[in-house]
Amino acid sequence: MNEHVQAASSAPLFNPLAPEFIRNPYPHYERMRTTDPVHLTPLGMYVCSRHAEVSLVLRDKQFGKDYVERTIRRYGPKIMDEPVFRSMSHWMLQQDPPDHTRLRGLVVKAFTARRVEDMRPRIQQVVDETLDRIIPQGKMDLIEDFAFRLPVTIICDMLGIPEDHREAFYTGSRDGGRLLDPVPLSPEEIKQGNAGNALAAMYFQQLFELRRKNPGNDLITQLVQAEEDGSKLTNEELTANIILLFGAGHETTVNLIGNGLLALHRNPDQLALLKARPELITNAIEEFLRYDSSVQLTGRVALEDIDDLGGKRIPKGESVLCLLGSANRDPAVYPDHPERLDITRPNVKPLSFGGGIHFCLGAQLARIEAEVAISTLLRRLPDLRLDDAANAEWRPTFVLRGLKRLPASW
Ligand code: HEM
Repeated sequence: MNEHVQAASSAPLFNPLAPEFIRNPYPHYERMRTTDPVHLTPLGMYVCSRHAEVSLVLRDKQFGKDYVERTIRRYGPKIMDEPVFRSMSHWMLQQDPPDHTRLRGLVVKAFTARRVEDMRPRIQQVVDETLDRIIPQGKMDLIEDFAFRLPVTIICDMLGIPEDHREAFYTGSRDGGRLLDPVPLSPEEIKQGNAGNALAAMYFQQLFELRRKNPGNDLITQLVQAEEDGSKLTNEELTANIILLFGAGHETTVNLIGNGLLALHRNPDQLALLKARPELITNAIEEFLRYDSSVQLTGRVALEDIDDLGGKRIPKGESVLCLLGSANRDPAVYPDHPERLDITRPNVKPLSFGGGIHFCLGAQLARIEAEVAISTLLRRLPDLRLDDAANAEWRPTFVLRGLKRLPASW
């Protein structure tokens, strides 16, 4: 056991919202992998930390989402009266087949590798315009001023959100991430979730009306037409999945860019290497995803009794959490110092985008956005330095791992 593991050994094994866990979950993960790789928490959830079990649970049909049952088990039967939970229950992310297959099928074509590659020039244009504006200032917050604007702009393009509506999305609250954490929400947080959901639903309903009258070449028009068809999706499903796409389309990618830039600057040899050999960027993005994933966890439910998962029996109906960030540092898969950032690492196949039928719809889009953003930044601002890389502050959510801010100057 190394010194990091010992430092963490007095804490509970899995306490994901504790400040020290959020600051650096990796020593805790190492302790979980080595002492109790399928750990039953006091809240009755089984937490998988090794690559083998995480990978299996994501792909095996014995596990599913069973969202409504799972949520009622956690909160009681009245929880589905809360609009934010009702809305989330319609997300494709929370559905099992056949509904999952139907909903995903409606949008999957917009995210194929080919379609996304065609967006590269637009992605480059957004990054260049952002930098043109910022470079004369001599300093910026890499999160708010740089990383955030790109994915928001691109998902707005894809959904067909008119240019003059977008300012609110650039400056809006980013507190929704708490909804995904495995620690139950307080009544106050549920209230905030309902308010945020109502605001988004109201805005999108108006936009649906607009697109019914003035169709465009965008995802909202496509889904509004599918809804009108009558058999493909309901109005509730339409609204919920547009909210999902909007949130998933930026909250995660902003953190891939932010976490990647922090990791690079904390490892100056890797930063210098990437500047000297820009063609390493594609592998570097995979390594950023592996090293400090912007999504740390996702969950499933056992759809039947499971006799043996890493030595544990899992009764039907129990929740199983998959620690993607821990699987990504499992020495069984990454034997060469998994705790090190190495942009030349061979065979990096992070589980950060999940696996199986829910594999991230936006994976290729996120990769290209991060690739263009980071390589352009290094090229155009080679002297950029972080003002306080040692004390970077993390947002207080666990599933979505990202920085509050990342001040830099040049
Ligand atoms: C699903 C991560 C970017 C849309 C997922 C899942 C993960 C993930 C782990 C699977 C969850 C599960 O199995 O339960 C990420 C990461 C991203 C990213 C790390 C960026 C670095 C995006 C983007 C979009 C997007 C840019 C859309 C524009 C979705 C959707 C799903 C999903 C719609 C649900 C798919 C389904 O249930 O079939 N993402 N994501 N994601 N992601 Fe992403």
